[in-house]
Amino acid sequence: MDELWTEKYRPNTLDDILGQEEIIEKLKVYIDKGSMPHLLFSGDPGVGKTSTALALANEIYGDDKKANFVELTESKERGINAIRGTVKEEARSKTLTEKNFKIIYMDQADDLTEAAQSAFRRTMENFSENVRFILSCSSSSKIIDPIQSRCATFRFRPLSKEMVKRWIRMIEDQEEFQIDENAVNILIRVSKGDMRKLTNLLQVANSMDPVITENIIKNAVKKTKTADIKGLILKARKRKFGDVREELFDLLIEEGYTAEEVLKMVNQEVHNIPLSKDKRKEVISEIGKVDFDLARGSRGEIHLQKLLAFFAALGDDH
Ligand SMILES: Nc1ncnc2c1ncn2[C@@H]1O[C@H](COP(=O)(O)OP(=O)(O)O)[C@@H](O)[C@H]1O
Ligand SMILES: [Mg+2]
Repeated sequence: MDELWTEKYRPNTLDDILGQEEIIEKLKVYIDKGSMPHLLFSGDPGVGKTSTALALANEIYGDDKKANFVELTESKERGINAIRGTVKEEARSKTLTEKNFKIIYMDQADDLTEAAQSAFRRTMENFSENVRFILSCSSSSKIIDPIQSRCATFRFRPLSKEMVKRWIRMIEDQEEFQIDENAVNILIRVSKGDMRKLTNLLQVANSMDPVITENIIKNAVKKTKTADIKGLILKARKRKFGDVREELFDLLIEEGYTAEEVLKMVNQEVHNIPLSKDKRKEVISEIGKVDFDLARGSRGEIHLQKLLAFFAALGDDH
């Protein structure tokens, strides 16, 4: 697989970040002063939160970024003990530059339970001399007040259609494909402000045909959908019911898939997820039952929810 365009075209400097002008201006003031508070970045997925944190670190540390910027993303690193451990280690080890703080970036901080957030808040206090945190979340209302009050909050806004168009044309200039105006419009519509989704779709479309039309985008959407379904099953197995319900609702209502279509995609994806032989058998028989229920015309989303609950009961240990 070629390099992901979301990485290839990730903005390296603050000036490369599209939109978010007010945020960038304020961050530049921190750079000039050589000091900054803890930061809370809120906003929808794919609007530039992680990219901005990375660009900020590039500008503060230059070549020494590696030694001074830590990103906590893997779920295993996010248990509160792991966070404490990592933070302690980072805070203790000397920074290699004259800058007197390191930056620890934590994605999806709103996924942490309240208890974990409380413990995290104490860690923030204990180490605020040597460490600045940048927390990222989709909505700051899910972050406990004592953390919010210790951070400067920045709300990231969805990019304007003009900005997104400029982004698409920039990539078109760099890569060898052509995309027509209709295709651009549908691409913008289906990615709903998520630049990661948009850029990935564009890359999939390009791999299908370098002359990108509306139809190519539609096919790319279908192809990437199966990847979403895989994520949905994995979330169900991790019992993230809130996310699962929301995504299922999106598929059925917003995107207009029928329950049968969703079931078909689940059926395809079952072969791509790690499952023991026995569990796979159980799943396939359960899918058969749901298929039967759907054929009798009863409410589709209820049966799909039941199926996802079945995945949850299986657990995520293969
Ligand atoms: N404001 C932006 N300007 C330029 N590119 C962006 C912007 N937002 C997102 N992107 C593109 O989308 C990808 C994902 O963005 P990211 O910063 O990880 O989003 P978030 O952390 O908000 O979910 C980036 O690699 C980049 O290619
Ligand atoms: Mg991010």
